[in-house]
Amino acid sequence: TDLSRIRNFSIVAHIDHGKSTLADRLIQETNTVAERDMKEQLLDAMDIERERGITIKANTVRIDFTAADGQDYVLNLIDTPGHVDFAYEVSRSMRAVEGSLLVVDSTQGVEAQTLANVYQAIDADHEIVPVLNKIDLPASEPDRVREQIEDVIGLDASDALLVSAKTGEGIRETLQAIVDRLPAPKGDPEAPLKAMLVDSWYDAYLGVIVLVRVIDGRLRKGERVKMMSNGSVHHVDRIGVFRPAMTQVDELGPGEIGFLTASIKQVRDTRVGDTITHEKKGAETALPGFKPSQPVVFCGLFPVDSAQFEDLRDAIEKLALNDASFSFEVESSAALGFGFRCGFLGLLHLEVIRDRIEREYDIDLITTAPSVVYHVYMKDGEMRELHNPADMPDLTHVDHLEEPRIKATILVPDDYLGDVLKLCQDRRGIQEDLTYAGPRAMVVYDLPLNEVVFDFYDRLKSVTKGYASFDYQMTGYRQDNLVKMQILVNEEPVDALSVMVHRDRAETRGRAMVEKLKDLIPRHMFKIPIQAAIGGKVIARETLAALRKDVTAKCYGGDVSRKKKLLEKQKAGKKKMRQFGRVEIPQSAFINALKMD
Ligand code: GTP
Repeated sequence: TDLSRIRNFSIVAHIDHGKSTLADRLIQETNTVAERDMKEQLLDAMDIERERGITIKANTVRIDFTAADGQDYVLNLIDTPGHVDFAYEVSRSMRAVEGSLLVVDSTQGVEAQTLANVYQAIDADHEIVPVLNKIDLPASEPDRVREQIEDVIGLDASDALLVSAKTGEGIRETLQAIVDRLPAPKGDPEAPLKAMLVDSWYDAYLGVIVLVRVIDGRLRKGERVKMMSNGSVHHVDRIGVFRPAMTQVDELGPGEIGFLTASIKQVRDTRVGDTITHEKKGAETALPGFKPSQPVVFCGLFPVDSAQFEDLRDAIEKLALNDASFSFEVESSAALGFGFRCGFLGLLHLEVIRDRIEREYDIDLITTAPSVVYHVYMKDGEMRELHNPADMPDLTHVDHLEEPRIKATILVPDDYLGDVLKLCQDRRGIQEDLTYAGPRAMVVYDLPLNEVVFDFYDRLKSVTKGYASFDYQMTGYRQDNLVKMQILVNEEPVDALSVMVHRDRAETRGRAMVEKLKDLIPRHMFKIPIQAAIGGKVIARETLAALRKDVTAKCYGGDVSRKKKLLEKQKAGKKKMRQFGRVEIPQSAFINALKMD
């Protein structure tokens, strides 16, 4: 295709502002898919994505559009993941296109994710076309939102498009604006091949499908190509484009976006951001900025029923084939038996994987406290990465610890600002910025990732009644006074409940944890001390009183069927219990004990 007739773009938006609905409309308006094939939310393929209303895997579609000048254009839309956990994938998808539609819900205005995503687009040198969506709603305030885009983001919004992705109003104008206002891609068809690996996923029939954006040169079926990050060579057996169904083509030239398959077995063998070139006469230098995404949050996943360990291994291996950013290794815990220590890009990623294991593979899991990666500096100068508090080396050999920090951006209505500041302060945050955009405040905090991973987002939602929006970026490591806190139940350490905490917060955390555990652990026939300790020193203690009477006693010994039912219920409950020395702890206690409130 003639480069001047191509436009490549993505859509950036906050969750629920209408990105998927708009994408569907653009596809529908151009008859890219026959009406009867049009499914709700075409671009969100996976069930879990749909259920959670979030887009996880980047998707793409090629749209043919006849513009006002009578010429046919090819518009390639790359759908980007909307969540912070996938920030690196977003930044890669952005580098594969020249422009963005910035969709803002005109009844809501700019949110934290709008900002995070639009900054990525600005970083990628995009031309940006603001789109004010949902103008069909009575609460729509296009003028206010236009002003806000100018004040907060600093983009000219005077010619923002007025759109209703629901009714179809403004959709033609949006397509025309993509042609008129976004630049055509540049590239040299005669230069050695350089194609960016934008995304990849596993398909049961075709193996790994690789989404590419050709920068220079031409990619044809039957060629041998090389991944520049590791030199691996593959024979291309198929190339094509998404309309959005996969349609084979003979070649992809500069500026084009499409897919290739090459009998690649695992998604792990394809790295997002890598450069693909020809095996022979390939490019000398790769595209800049490639970095494989690193897991930042780790936790243990253990089967509730230890007989399901091999099933769990099978599930994890299958999921890992399709997700290069998910890492795992076998972990054995004195308390929980055999399981896996798994690494994720963030909490949402963790939840999605855990849900899939439970749902698709039908395995009940115990999830241990999420932990970040600490840098442990030993006295001999060595630096060790600590993925699990249980592996914390003996303190006599440790010089100091560093923890990862983030830059968090929070947008919140003025009324709730005080609560948000307090929450951030409580989580050891350092305020970096506080500005106003109309009745809303934007605060920027430097926070330890550790204080955010577990329930920060839930807390934020609850103190602001859901009105705050939040986004973050990793910034780097910093030294702090960090210690490992252990929990002892009946004098036995429960390693699954060990956490890394800041020394100043240890007492509070420890006390909260033992108090909670006292409620969460059922009474036994004997007294149970529950303690929090640092090193050998106990910093908090509760005692769970002994049970006096038999539970069935309250059935007055008379009603046999009720008694039986009760015993059966207890037996079912047992499956979710874990034995620690003489004490049984329910699975739910692990997660609940680690929540802070
Ligand atoms: P994620 O996929 O979760 O990032 O959300 P999204 O930004 O793709 O939003 P989505 O397209 O799923 O739309 C969110 C909700 O807004 C849905 O219930 C849509 O039906 C609704 N919606 C989208 N566009 C419009 C519009 O123009 N008018 C009205 N009234 N509702 C809309």
